[in-house]
Amino acid sequence: MGPAMDEVTFKSDTVLSDVHLYTPNQRHLMVRLNGMGQPVFLSQFKVLWSRDSGTNSGAEDNGPRHVSTQEAPPAGSGSGHSHEDLSLQAGDDITIRERLSVPLDEDGDLDVVRRPRAASDANQSEPARDKVHPMILAQEEDDLTGDGAQKSCPHSIIKIEHTMATPLEDVGKQVWRGALFLADYILFRRDLFQGCTVLELGAGTGLASIVAATMAHTVYCTDVGTDLLAMCQRNIALNSHLAATRDGVIKVKELDWLKDDFCTDPKVPFSWSEEDISDLYDHTTVLFAAEVFYDDDLTDALFNTLSRIVYRLKNACTAILSVEKRFNFTLRHLDVTCEAYDHFRASLDSLEKLADGKLRFMVEPVEATFPQLLIYERIRQLELWKIVVEPAA
Ligand SMILES: C[S@@+](CC[C@H](N)C(=O)[O-])C[C@H]1O[C@@H](n2cnc3c(N)ncnc32)[C@H](O)[C@@H]1O
Repeated sequence: MGPAMDEVTFKSDTVLSDVHLYTPNQRHLMVRLNGMGQPVFLSQFKVLWSRDSGTNSGAEDNGPRHVSTQEAPPAGSGSGHSHEDLSLQAGDDITIRERLSVPLDEDGDLDVVRRPRAASDANQSEPARDKVHPMILAQEEDDLTGDGAQKSCPHSIIKIEHTMATPLEDVGKQVWRGALFLADYILFRRDLFQGCTVLELGAGTGLASIVAATMAHTVYCTDVGTDLLAMCQRNIALNSHLAATRDGVIKVKELDWLKDDFCTDPKVPFSWSEEDISDLYDHTTVLFAAEVFYDDDLTDALFNTLSRIVYRLKNACTAILSVEKRFNFTLRHLDVTCEAYDHFRASLDSLEKLADGKLRFMVEPVEATFPQLLIYERIRQLELWKIVVEPAA
């Protein structure tokens, strides 16, 4: 955990997403405590709609935007400047310069604090790709809820309530970089989502489902745990204006990969009706999941759930999975390894080799060359994998 955490008391077993790490810890907009007494924060994610990405009918379309590459102040710089946690957004440069509260030296010059060079930056011969870092914008004092931004461009802002640091079992309450990466791909592949029924596994705060619902007809947004699903449901309500004009419906449902089937007990919150299950099997053509490969048992469980569902679907389908290749030093290997990622890749291999005469799984990596419409650091370790599932010939 980085220096940003110095001023906040987090237990040693908590994890913090990089998406939130770059936000300084002063004056976060804490909106409430959730059912477990955890502080809930509100962040806004701006979508830079462009002509290339197709336009949301209600979105203002100012043509393709350029995404600023200005670096965020280092986490926890604690500079006393009035950074707000709210927006990871970029718009016109002038607006950004006017609104960004940045450190200045004695002469009033911009004092740029450079991010330490990452090991992954070493290979300078690789083609340069636009790197986009989250930036912290100063909010107007009277606009702490972000209503100003929301009013001026309501179709460009996704509002997400989340917690800031959680124990591992609650990681779904944060937004992960892979969700933003996946959301970018969803926006790029409108053809795949337009008017379709789609299913997200391990949706967490629901950001990728919310983006999918700007195009899809029905999104089954699934995860586990009443508290998390309630938070997700709330985020969907906060962003209902994005889907409303498009006839999109998001249904938040419990789907626990460790259970053999859907929960249909009407007394259980977020359980499935028989109609929902039939609709899912009859119409789903896309499944997607972001950042769900961090524990080998859960990865196995997710692949089992994925298989169980696709074997029951009426139609051929595509699964899209985002993963961040994380390196850890392990005492067992006395080396830096990426075991969770390796296990994910092995699971993909097994799926591809499956030859049961019923379905064929074609696995391929997706190059990260699609446009970036959300603001996050598109690091090389972010990967997207596509699995096309068709009846075996
Ligand atoms: C790292 S979070 C990713 C959340 C979200 N997709 C994102 O990228 O922001 C992993 C997600 O997997 C979910 N998950 C973990 N175990 C699960 C299980 N057994 N069944 C369903 N979802 C599970 C967690 O609740 C959490 O939302």
